[in-house]
Amino acid sequence: MKTMLQLTGCAFSLHRYPIQKNETLQAWDAADEYLIEQLEREELPANSRILILNDGFGALSCWAAMQGFRATTMSDSHLSQISITANLKQNNLSGVTLLSPLEDLPSDTDIVVMKLPKNNRLLVWQLQQIAHFAKAGIRVITGAKAKDIHTSTLKLFEKHLGATHTSLAKKKARLIFCLKEKQLAAMPAATTSFDVPDFKMTLQNHANVFSSESLDIAAYLMLKHIPADPEIKHIIDLGCGNGVLSIQAARLNPQAQITAVDESNMAVASAALNLQQHGIEASRTHCLVNNCLDGFTPDSADVVLCNPPFHQLSAVTDHIAWQMFCDAKRVLEPKGRIVVIGNRHLGYHAKLKRLFGNAQVIASNRKFVIVEAYK
Ligand SMILES: C[S@@+](CC[C@H](N)C(=O)[O-])C[C@H]1O[C@@H](n2cnc3c(N)ncnc32)[C@H](O)[C@@H]1O
Repeated sequence: MKTMLQLTGCAFSLHRYPIQKNETLQAWDAADEYLIEQLEREELPANSRILILNDGFGALSCWAAMQGFRATTMSDSHLSQISITANLKQNNLSGVTLLSPLEDLPSDTDIVVMKLPKNNRLLVWQLQQIAHFAKAGIRVITGAKAKDIHTSTLKLFEKHLGATHTSLAKKKARLIFCLKEKQLAAMPAATTSFDVPDFKMTLQNHANVFSSESLDIAAYLMLKHIPADPEIKHIIDLGCGNGVLSIQAARLNPQAQITAVDESNMAVASAALNLQQHGIEASRTHCLVNNCLDGFTPDSADVVLCNPPFHQLSAVTDHIAWQMFCDAKRVLEPKGRIVVIGNRHLGYHAKLKRLFGNAQVIASNRKFVIVEAYK
């Protein structure tokens, strides 16, 4: 696997963090290369202020720092944030400001460089932010896999910002060029909500939250099988999204502490808001942006609830689910249990059995199984 990003005008090393022993995935893609080549051709004035959105692992931020530009970078992903920081350090680069995705965009940007987010709601939110905060007349250059750029994507750029066209495809990547002509007077509310009447919930969702427009069907099944036991003292909702499982776990176990963990800043902000709006006392809850259970005290939880992801950014992978299961085993008390929901074909039952030495299917439907395993 290549770890040296080498283009005509630059060369630097780039890793995905946290570093995995047998990492097979490269830390940049053809769209990063295409964007960097395009930006080098642009010959931007020295001291330009570049706003970078959704940099995966730091390719764009490292390039901008290497050119001496004043760069601000914003990504919702904690793994992206730690990768950007670590790759800058690894290459002895500095001068890049990291912004939280919950902050306002800077208003003095000269150009916006963006990786197209997978999630259209996040794309619209970011286009609205640019339309509201950025100066008129600036350019927004976006890179993505060609197959992810649809006519409807281009229409969103045109609708929210202004004139838009695309480049030719190169190594299956394309660029979108857009001129900011429109000005949005006020930002819409940062969250949208939907109801879950069967469980008397109204869930608020920031733009990049998993299943932010309706309840995930796996989560709906899981809601009916959350353990309730007066002996349970601490429940972790691992990959909490909007916190739907945390709320139900807190209601069923009023004596328990609830820790909601996600690597998405927007997810954790949504979970914190939802727990509060559903009347769960703040003293019982802890909402945390984290990579799985890195840094958690061993033997400290009675139950881990998990509806694992099978993507990391655009890569389909089950290594995060596996890391979540291994972390849960370390963090669970002796006799503690993990409750996992997943698509049948993902084979979580066999994986948990291998790791815990036991695993029982406690519920299933045509598509999903819920598996419980004890430490
Ligand atoms: C399938 S969603 C489940 C969300 C919610 N629990 C539900 O049931 O609707 C998986 C969640 O895991 C989060 N996630 C992905 N990678 C993670 C990681 N390395 N550490 C913590 N959370 C992660 C995602 O951001 C996403 O919110």
